[in-house]
Amino acid sequence: MPVPLSPTALSTLVAALRAAGCVFAEDEAGLIAATAAGPAELTAMVERRAAGHPLEHVLGWAEFNGLRIAVDPGVFVPRRRTEFLIRQAVALAPEPAVVVDLCCGSGALGAALAAALDRVELHAADVEPAAVRCARRNIGDRGEVYEGDLFAPLPGSLRGRVDVLLANVPYVPTEDVALLPAEARVHEPLVALDGGGDGLDVLRRVAAEAPRWLAPGGSLLVETSERQAERAARVIGDSGLVPRVVSCDELYATVVMGARPGRAVS
Ligand SMILES: C[S@@+](CC[C@H](N)C(=O)[O-])C[C@H]1O[C@@H](n2cnc3c(N)ncnc32)[C@H](O)[C@@H]1O
Repeated sequence: MPVPLSPTALSTLVAALRAAGCVFAEDEAGLIAATAAGPAELTAMVERRAAGHPLEHVLGWAEFNGLRIAVDPGVFVPRRRTEFLIRQAVALAPEPAVVVDLCCGSGALGAALAAALDRVELHAADVEPAAVRCARRNIGDRGEVYEGDLFAPLPGSLRGRVDVLLANVPYVPTEDVALLPAEARVHEPLVALDGGGDGLDVLRRVAAEAPRWLAPGGSLLVETSERQAERAARVIGDSGLVPRVVSCDELYATVVMGARPGRAVS
């Protein structure tokens, strides 16, 4: 039950959030009051937010592609810009589609694609136990979630059958991690952010294996920064996939796709 707040209590809450540096203090106060189960929880939530925890960790959820996605502390918060990747995936996916959400974090991408398509066989995986637990809650009975390194935990029966391979891998160059806002740097695990020297180390590993898992005509979709896109497209092209870069100014998003040639034209 949301906590009913008098106008005075609401302005006190807004003032506390504003003093802590929250730019959208009014909006955040409304969300916190609507999510807290009682006054004690409300106070604890405001204290955590004022101490710099990401709003989504404080609330326990993030909005992604129209869905409310549970996000536990220590799990990467799905970013609104990644909705652009989902739009590309929806446009590419056949029906029915075999979908793998690699490096799934909270499972937001797989859950969003499953919600957007009628018939999906969904598999998701992440190396972090906290992410896997969270993804299991978000994906529920719409798919399977595995724990382990990249493709290693996936069932072998998926080889050569994957129509859409979503892989929002970590892509921040190691030396840029220190420049990230504290909400990410302090409260999200390093393994979710650090993509190695040029930010593309995990992508290289995914691209090297992707052709063996994709169905003919299937596609790998990854997000990068605008600066990394050309190099990421080369990495994907070198693996034998046909690369394509698309971007969205509004969401400040860049997606690099790689298609496995060969779907029969009917
Ligand atoms: C940038 S986050 C993306 C999470 C989610 N896909 C999203 O967009 O909200 C990257 C995720 O990759 C996972 N990860 C990093 N290295 C991995 C690996 N070698 N194998 C599996 N998952 C990995 C992290 O635990 C993290 O959840």
